[in-house]
Amino acid sequence: MRGPELYVEAKRLIPGGTQLLSKRPELFAPERWPAYYREARGCEVTDLDGRTYLDFTHNGVGSCLLGYAHPRVVEAVVDRVRRGSMCSLNSPEEVELAKRLLALHPWAEQVRFARCGGESLSVAVRIARAATGRDVIAFCGYHGWSDWYLAANLSTERALDGHLLPGLSPAGVPRGLTETALPFAYNRLVELEQIVRSHGANLAAVVMEPTRNMPPAPGFMSGVRALCDEAGAKLVFDEVTTGFRFRSGGYHLDFFESTERIVPDLAVFAKALGSGHPMAAVIGRRESMEAAQDSFLSSTYWTEGVGPVAALATLDVLAEQDVPGHARRIGEQFREQLAQRAAAAGLSLKIGGYPQLTTIAFDHPDAAALLTLFTVRMLDRGMLASGGFYPTLGHTAASVEAYMSAAEPVLAEVANAASQGDASNRLGGLVKQSGFARLT
Ligand SMILES: Cc1ncc(COP(=O)(O)O)c(C=O)c1O
Repeated sequence: MRGPELYVEAKRLIPGGTQLLSKRPELFAPERWPAYYREARGCEVTDLDGRTYLDFTHNGVGSCLLGYAHPRVVEAVVDRVRRGSMCSLNSPEEVELAKRLLALHPWAEQVRFARCGGESLSVAVRIARAATGRDVIAFCGYHGWSDWYLAANLSTERALDGHLLPGLSPAGVPRGLTETALPFAYNRLVELEQIVRSHGANLAAVVMEPTRNMPPAPGFMSGVRALCDEAGAKLVFDEVTTGFRFRSGGYHLDFFESTERIVPDLAVFAKALGSGHPMAAVIGRRESMEAAQDSFLSSTYWTEGVGPVAALATLDVLAEQDVPGHARRIGEQFREQLAQRAAAAGLSLKIGGYPQLTTIAFDHPDAAALLTLFTVRMLDRGMLASGGFYPTLGHTAASVEAYMSAAEPVLAEVANAASQGDASNRLGGLVKQSGFARLT
């Protein structure tokens, strides 16, 4: 298999093997996961050996909500590339994109662009710190690789463990940032209250996803907004993963349209905005965004033209088709049918999150080995399958059915391995890792 072989070479040349933790083969099936792709279209992925799979994992880690290589996006990108996607002048499409994002989010007045999620969160945090003249950030959830975020683990290496990715090391983050990033749990207003009581005078921002695995409890979001107002801190919604997946625009528009009319000061988009092409945006109210002029926020490739045209084409497709509705329906079908098949096999399966952002885990002490066995056997049947599924426009009811036909015999074997306690043996001991760890 050429993919796993290439990955062995990669680990020698590239520390950590991949540029994104979530694409490490060790998180799926060590030495078996195909690792690299030659082509990707719709929900089909072809590996280096020419084997084609249906992708029932996170589909470009949430970046390809329209499916891989959506024709409208490809056409716009190719056209921009042919005409030159970079030069000494600016890309006019970024002005059009700013107008379109503001039209979708009437509370916001200005936009800055970047290209990646973590990077644009850093931009938002810089703007919030510049606007308030303060240092401390209260946050919940995962927000990328930056110093401001990993600083949370300087006080205790476990501060980030409840926030999507456990085990993140703050190695290389200046110790001077200790106590500048303070975590609180989603739906636990009392934890944010404590931060405001202890650090309110130096609180620059509250950074959080508007939702991830569950909706906000009644009163939670209005409570967060009120605490920000009380402390004079900015509220930043991270819509890097949620944006465009639940509705065209940010999930937080539901709060804005509710009777409470809750609005953030800033919101951040990336991933699905560019449909597989790097594009990110920070939108916000003028009084906050203007602080971007006092700070130095500037980067060469923030000006290239592919990202903006990909985003404009994505917004066109979203305006014409109910993509979030499709993703929800596919996710619902997937969950319902998988739960039925798991129950029929006598397996206890935990299916969590929203249909649009589904997580899957075997409810068993040997869960990691069972999931690895599931992944390995599903690969043999032409499926990329693991512990989560982010549905896209590229998935159909027929692709869900194909997955289920493949899953039926595999779940029977997993049930057998669960009762025999020999899943790891069946895998020659090659069980998936979870969370962040050095590879060697
Ligand atoms: C909510 C959230 N914020 C930020 C990021 C970081 O984005 P990126 O990987 O593009 O830097 C992610 C990525 O998974 C995310 O889910």
